[in-house]
Amino acid sequence: MHVSQPVFELANDALADKLQNRKIVVVVDSTVDALYGEMLRAYASQRLECVGIKTFAASEHMKTLESLQDVVTFAAEAGLPRKGIFVAVGGGVTLDIVGAAAAMYRRGTEFFRIPTTVVGAVDVSVGIKQGVNFGGKKNFLGAFHVPLGGINDPRFFASLPRRELSAGLAEIIKVGLLLDPSLFELLERHGEDLFTTAFQAPQSVALETMMRAELAMMRELQPNLWEHDLRRLVDFGHTFSSWLEPASAYALPHGHAVALDMLVSTALAVEARLCSYELLRRLVAMYRAVELPLEHPLVRTSSLLEALAPMRLHREGALNLVVPVELGLGTYLQDVEPEQLDRALRLVARVGVR
Ligand SMILES: NC(=O)c1ccc[n+]([C@@H]2O[C@H](COP(=O)([O-])OP(=O)(O)OC[C@H]3O[C@@H](n4cnc5c(N)ncnc54)[C@H](O)[C@@H]3O)[C@@H](O)[C@H]2O)c1
Repeated sequence: MHVSQPVFELANDALADKLQNRKIVVVVDSTVDALYGEMLRAYASQRLECVGIKTFAASEHMKTLESLQDVVTFAAEAGLPRKGIFVAVGGGVTLDIVGAAAAMYRRGTEFFRIPTTVVGAVDVSVGIKQGVNFGGKKNFLGAFHVPLGGINDPRFFASLPRRELSAGLAEIIKVGLLLDPSLFELLERHGEDLFTTAFQAPQSVALETMMRAELAMMRELQPNLWEHDLRRLVDFGHTFSSWLEPASAYALPHGHAVALDMLVSTALAVEARLCSYELLRRLVAMYRAVELPLEHPLVRTSSLLEALAPMRLHREGALNLVVPVELGLGTYLQDVEPEQLDRALRLVARVGVR
């Protein structure tokens, strides 16, 4: 749900209505708390049955079982009952950890999401996957756990650093390219504005962008929420990236790793004559407009090949590498040879310097 007034404005009933006087524990990213904590605390004390607020220094390094345990311990000590609700306020890391904690707490407690990053709003909050990293692997432990709901308030994005904005735009580009051509075209016209104004203007475009991205994701996820089918177009950009992120010691934000993956995957499709060079060129132009990376030292044939084996295992033997065919249409590659990757990387380098 989107709100027209700030989510923590005392006069805004949206959150209070959703939580219905049930006991809640709030877990908030400490950066978000520093920026919006005063409003959050006033709202929690005057409009909600809040039994505790836990701050959490969110980063990919902190997306661990220990952090999940801290959340659960805090809730138990605060006396959150079985029928209580966890409220997560923050980016994808916070939402994923709190969702996983809620799935485990008393064998399953409800939780509510208030995303404060673009990735959190258009991607994390649309699905039901919760989790933490484990054993050097992304999201290795977790659960499918359906949230009670969520509220999107794009005003939070005003304080996001540029790299988090571009990371969020990468996930929207993903959806536009494969699922909603008019979203992709909207980004071609306004992506730079959304990036430079942190989604604050033009307001109608920001809202349309968010809504289109969320709806397209929902349509795609809804028939396959529990992922019985491991061929998912929304995994575009999520094959090499799952390896790139930990391999960079999480210096690469999730969205930038996804962007690099989409670039290589699109170049592979061009090399295989599945998709036009023009689409790759348009993708690169969009990356330039919103400061997404076109290269990274880890994007080399040898390291990208390393990413494929664990992904094959994760997808039960099939690689299912998503590549675009044209705007709004994708397909899957089941094998990638080193020579194909070599050629794709050379193509990325060529189109990148133009
Ligand atoms: N569950 C899913 O389906 C799903 C989908 C996509 C991504 N993810 C996960 O989401 C995570 C990435 O999410 P993310 O990009 O939001 O990362 P994040 O939660 O680490 O947030 C990014 C940074 O922005 C800061 N921040 C958050 N809100 C802010 C605000 N309003 N103003 C200023 N700073 C703010 C955070 O403190 C952090 O430093 C990854 O762990 C990824 O695996 C999960």
